[in-house]
Amino acid sequence: MSLIEKIENVFPQASEIPVGLRQDIPFAQTGYLINGEIRKWDGPQQQVFSPVWASIDGLPKPFPIGAYPLLSEKEALQALDAAVSAYDHGRGLWPTLSVAERIHHMERFVFRMLEQKERIVQLLMWEIGKSLKDSNKEFDRTILYINDTMDALKDLDRISSRFVIEEGIIGQIRRAPMGVVLCMGPFNYPLNETLTTLIPALIMGNTVILKPPKHGALLYAPMLDVFCDVFPKGVVNIIYGEGRSIIPPLMMSGGIHVLALIGNSNTANVLKKLHPRPNRLRCVLGLEAKNPAIILEDADLDLAVQECLLGCLSFNGQRCTALKILFVASAIKDEFLSRFASAVNSAPFGMPWQEDVFITPVAEKGKTDYLRGLVADALAQGATVVNEAGGTVNGSFFFPAVLYPVSEGMRIYREEQFGPVIPVLQFNDIREPIDYMIHSVYGQQVSIFGKDPDQMAQLIDPLVNQVCRVNINSQCQRGPDIFPFTGRKDSAEGTLSVSDALRVFSIRTLIAAKQTNLNKEIITSIVKNHQSKFLATDFIL
Ligand code: G3H
Repeated sequence: MSLIEKIENVFPQASEIPVGLRQDIPFAQTGYLINGEIRKWDGPQQQVFSPVWASIDGLPKPFPIGAYPLLSEKEALQALDAAVSAYDHGRGLWPTLSVAERIHHMERFVFRMLEQKERIVQLLMWEIGKSLKDSNKEFDRTILYINDTMDALKDLDRISSRFVIEEGIIGQIRRAPMGVVLCMGPFNYPLNETLTTLIPALIMGNTVILKPPKHGALLYAPMLDVFCDVFPKGVVNIIYGEGRSIIPPLMMSGGIHVLALIGNSNTANVLKKLHPRPNRLRCVLGLEAKNPAIILEDADLDLAVQECLLGCLSFNGQRCTALKILFVASAIKDEFLSRFASAVNSAPFGMPWQEDVFITPVAEKGKTDYLRGLVADALAQGATVVNEAGGTVNGSFFFPAVLYPVSEGMRIYREEQFGPVIPVLQFNDIREPIDYMIHSVYGQQVSIFGKDPDQMAQLIDPLVNQVCRVNINSQCQRGPDIFPFTGRKDSAEGTLSVSDALRVFSIRTLIAAKQTNLNKEIITSIVKNHQSKFLATDFIL
C-alpha cells in the first residue's frame, strides 16, 4: 500500500475497534458534583465525538462517544456558594484540618483513583486520541505527582514545625490556604495538568471548583464518586459546560481567590479582567509557547533528528512544550532536512490503541483546516513541504508536514501551531535564532544541539534570560515534575513544580510573640496540650 493509501485507510471500520476498549462507549454522563452531592442534570448536553473516526459504509465519520452536561450560570454559582461555605473565611473544616489529616484524605483519594484507572485511561484515549500507551503514562505520572506532592508537603511541614527566635521575637511560620481556587486544565493533558493544580490547591487547604476541559471531560465521571466520598462537602465541586457561559460569572462574583488555568493567554487575560478586586486574585497560568530548537553545525545529527522528532511530534505536537520551530545551521541544513523528513515519514501512525503508534488523529474539531491553512500560507510565500505526503488530510487525521524554507511573514513563523506542522529555517549567524526569541511573545524553553562546550556556554548565557529552561541536546519538556515549570512573557505566570505548586496555592502566615515569660507560658501550654493545629510542633513522620 502506498503512503497515501495508508493515510486514506487510517480509520478502522466500527466493527474493527477492539471490544475491550469500547465497554464504556458511548457514555452519557449526567452527574456533576456540588456541595458533596452528585446532582443529576436533565438539561442540554454536549455531544462528544472522538478524534478517532470510524468507517461506516466505507466512509469515515466522527465516532460518538458520549455526552456531558452543559450547566448554566445558576449551577456554576451554586458551586461557588458551596466552595465559599466550605472555606467559610478560613474557618471551615477543610482549611482548619491539620496537614497530616489532609494528607490522609489524599492517600484515600489515590487509593480510590487507582481503582478507576482502566476506565479513566480509556476515556482519555477516546476523548483526545492520545495513544493508549501515553494515556496510561499520563495516569501513572499523575499518581506519582500526587504521591510526590504529599511527600513535599510533609517536608515543608517538618521545616515549619519549629520556632524561630529573632530580635527577641518568637515566630512560627507556616503556609496557609488562599481561599477558593478555580482550576481549569487543557485538553492535551486533561487529567495530568488539571490535577497538577487541583491537588496542591486542595492539599494546602483551599476549596476548589474544577471545570474539566472541553475535550477530556468524560474522564472525570469515574472520579466524581471518589471526590464526593473522600473530601468533606463543598471542598471539591466539579462543573461542566461552555466555559464562556459558566466561568465569567464566577470571576465577576469576586469569590475566586486563585485562578489556575493551563490554556490560552487570551482566555486568561479576559478572565483576569472580570475580577472586581484584581489585587485579591492570584493567577497561576501555563500558556502558549513557540519553543525553538537550534541545531548547530557540529551537532550529533542522529541525536538531533531523534529529539526533534519527539519534540515536534509527541502527541502530534499538541503540547505547550513541543518544539514548534527548528533553526538549522546552513552548513548541515540539507543533511538534517533529508534525515528529519525520513524520520517523520517512518514514524508509525494510526489509531491510539495500536502498538507503538506515534501519530494519531488530532483532537480538536476544525484543527485540520487550521493546519491546512498554515501550510497553504507558507507554500504561497515560497516554502515547500519536504516530506512525502506531508499535510495530507483524512478526516481528523493530519499527516505531519515539514516546511522549508520558512521565513518571517509566514503565519507559521509566529503562530503556535499546536499540531503536526514543522517549520524549518536555516541560519548563517547564531544571532538569527536569538533575535527570533527576543522578538517572540513567548518565552518558555529552547533546545540547543551541539558539541562544543565553548559555543554552548556562549549560547546558554543569553538564552537563560529569554526562556525558563535551556535543554542541551534534548527536546523541550515539562518533566521531571520536581523541576520548575514556568515561562516568561505570554507563556506563563507563576511556577509549577511539585514543591512550587504548594507555594503558589498558599501564603505564608505566622504567629509572633515577644519573648516574655507570659508569652512563653502561653505558647508552651498550647503546644504541649495540642490546642492549636497551626501553633504546633508535631512532626509528620
Ligand atoms: O502542554 C504542555 C505540557 O505541560 C507538556 O508537558 O513536556 O511533559 O509533555 P510534557
